[in-house]
Amino acid sequence: MSEQLPPKTAFPPPRPYPGVDPEILTTPPARSPGLAQAPERRAPRMVEMTIDGAPVSVPSGSTILEACRAQGIDIPTLCTLSTLNPEGVCRLCVVDTGARALTPSCSARVAEGMTVETENERVRHSRRLVLELLASSVDLDLAGPELPDGTLHKYLERYGADPARFGPPSSPAAAGERDAAEAGHHRVPDGATASNVGQPAKIDNDLFVRDYSKCVLCYKCVEACGVDAQNTFAISVAGRGFAARISTEFDLPLAESACVFCGNCINVCPTGALMFRSEYELRRAGDWREQDQTTTRTICPYCGVGCTLELHVQDNRIVKVLSPLDADITSGNLCVKGRFGFDFVQVRPKGSSREV
Ligand code: SF4
Ligand code: SF4
Ligand code: FES
Repeated sequence: MSEQLPPKTAFPPPRPYPGVDPEILTTPPARSPGLAQAPERRAPRMVEMTIDGAPVSVPSGSTILEACRAQGIDIPTLCTLSTLNPEGVCRLCVVDTGARALTPSCSARVAEGMTVETENERVRHSRRLVLELLASSVDLDLAGPELPDGTLHKYLERYGADPARFGPPSSPAAAGERDAAEAGHHRVPDGATASNVGQPAKIDNDLFVRDYSKCVLCYKCVEACGVDAQNTFAISVAGRGFAARISTEFDLPLAESACVFCGNCINVCPTGALMFRSEYELRRAGDWREQDQTTTRTICPYCGVGCTLELHVQDNRIVKVLSPLDADITSGNLCVKGRFGFDFVQVRPKGSSREV
């Protein structure tokens, strides 16, 4: 005798949950017919503080540097950039908040009732010494607080820095000598000359040159190659103390390292230590003419991301490709194609009037 199946029901009845109205389990709530709205942005809480004797009101969460710059106060910086997390290593931006030690304004946040002095004698003395130590040990010819445009020198004048007081520079290191230094093995200075990081530039590929005699160890390239942008971690700081330097793993040439040649490190380097090979060669030949160059913003043609490029052109040749920090999509970052993939533009038919 065949077994009798129970009659089919359309839906099983809702399982009873203690304390829950079964209606909610079967009846979806009515949706609003309108478009989804972004939650209203709440105005930031304001913090009352004093900067150089003037009472000011600034959004909480701002850095002291942002608060000061909003008041039009000029504070020198080397290691901070709007697109990177502040490392607070160069100590140029220090201000006096009444604390025992001066405060790096790029990385310290404002606080209710805080009193900040940006140019008292303590601050000026500290900035002067930092600038003297940097200028006596590093080639700052192309250094600028934001870009390699040579503006650091105005701060040397403003603070009366005299790097020559440490004596003439010691002889530059031979190629590879600084990279071979072991942590903790300190070379005693001779007392007559100023130790410096002079060394030959590393030219190991066709795309960019690393001239660490211009490196102030600001960490920006490390941040851009790491968690702040590229997440490639091809470069980091090796060594300790005066022997500290930026290096690839085991000091490998770039092409043998983890580097993917995005050039994001070049975009953030404030001293010209990292430089397009084309710019390096033109500078070496004495033919780098910024006054004759045009700068054009355009969109990278390689893929659908649409990164913003800033093409620097001299004599009808693309000599450098940067990416503006204020471009929403890329915030100054590119990949190898957008950064370096434009040699084909220079290849024009023989006899063409636009042949280069
Ligand atoms: S080019 Fe890109 S991957 Fe290579 S070191 Fe610079 S940031 Fe890192
Ligand atoms: S190479 Fe440039 S970005 Fe990197 S630490 Fe040196 S100065 Fe800073
Ligand atoms: S800019 Fe603040 S410590 Fe370098």
